[in-house]
Amino acid sequence: MNKRDLLQIAKEHRTPTYVYDLEKLEKQINKLKKAFTYPRTKFLYAVKANFNLHLVENIVKNGFGIDAVSPEEAELGIRCGAEHSSIIFTGNNMGDEDMKRAHELKVLLNIDSLSRLKKFGSSYPNSDVCVRFNPDVGAGNHHYNITGGEESKFGISYLQLQDVLKIINIHNLRLVGIHHHIGSGWLNMSSPLSALEIILDLASKIQGLDFIDLGGGFGIPYKPDEEELDINRLGNKVSEMFSTFCEKYGKELELRLEPGRYVVAQAGHLLVRVTTIKENPQGKIFVGVDSGMNHMIRVPLYDAYHEIINLSNPNGEQKDYDVCGNVCESSDFFAKDRQLPFVREGDILSIEDTGAYGFAMSSNYQLRARPAEVIIYEDGTTFLSRKRETLKDILSKYEKLNQNHQS
Ligand code: LLP
Repeated sequence: MNKRDLLQIAKEHRTPTYVYDLEKLEKQINKLKKAFTYPRTKFLYAVKANFNLHLVENIVKNGFGIDAVSPEEAELGIRCGAEHSSIIFTGNNMGDEDMKRAHELKVLLNIDSLSRLKKFGSSYPNSDVCVRFNPDVGAGNHHYNITGGEESKFGISYLQLQDVLKIINIHNLRLVGIHHHIGSGWLNMSSPLSALEIILDLASKIQGLDFIDLGGGFGIPYKPDEEELDINRLGNKVSEMFSTFCEKYGKELELRLEPGRYVVAQAGHLLVRVTTIKENPQGKIFVGVDSGMNHMIRVPLYDAYHEIINLSNPNGEQKDYDVCGNVCESSDFFAKDRQLPFVREGDILSIEDTGAYGFAMSSNYQLRARPAEVIIYEDGTTFLSRKRETLKDILSKYEKLNQNHQS
């Protein structure tokens, strides 16, 4: 993917537009497959990172199952070609409706509270089930992204295994898998490996498992000086520990992993156009663009860093800028005090690494339409996967007004 292709897309499809590079996505998938050498490894794509139908279809074609956190995501996985048996629905604070829908979709439920496990057992005795445990270890690139430990609302404490087994027995459920997901965006292996030790120890106390699911969370380097996660080392280590465990357990269990960000983040670019350059008397220069936190909220929400490329003036003189959106909120920015090649009104910028939790977390705040989504295939051809929304799309869910105000 080169800068000229991106500029061409901005010209053809206007801005703001999300662009997804399939070549990069496949590269990430292959890195994962190569790293986890354990033969019965199964990847389930975490749809929450990016639910673009065409991307999901492609990921499924690469042999991935689906990690869904809503019945809707599970249904999307089925529509994109995933086998029911390779979809897991991990519900947090799951309601009766979600439980029923997921059960009717014939996907495995991953339950994360004792009370829901009881309700599941009395509604569907003799069923297969997975349980999400909280191993009391967490990791993530922001405290909002940590999902293990005593402060976390996720999972059933690993100390409550006996309570889980009691419920499983009463309702004659079959505990086919156990799961944990300690957090998202970590680049260091020490916490995930500690959590693995805990879940393997837990597994040794449970008979009849088919799989252990270690969740996702593999981070990517967003900042230029950030060190990449050593995925080969992690994959080898996990595979080795898992094999050793299975030998002792007496069965070659399936090792499940649920990457989201690692698969799609770096494949995504958010293309925006500079609408306004404003310099204040104190010398601060604001670059205003035709997008904002409504389209990509990671920067204000997690204090995240995203690289920005000035596609239309890459060799300009470097200057410091605040890059802001067009939303009426002071938290509406993509970067502060960022060095960029000289920016002019009309320039096209690319906000990088936005394939994960970009469009998926976008909204219609301030009645702005969500961006178009374009896919670039390996051969360089492009495809408008999702049209830019219009006001009509956004308003279409309302009932008609009582009076017609249009003259
Ligand atoms: N499995 C479960 C049960 C999860 O809750 C998540 C992410 C994943 C897998 C995938 O994690 P990943 O491989 O993508 O790190 N909006 C935040 C990230 C929230 C992640 C929520 N759960 C962000 O933009 O950083």
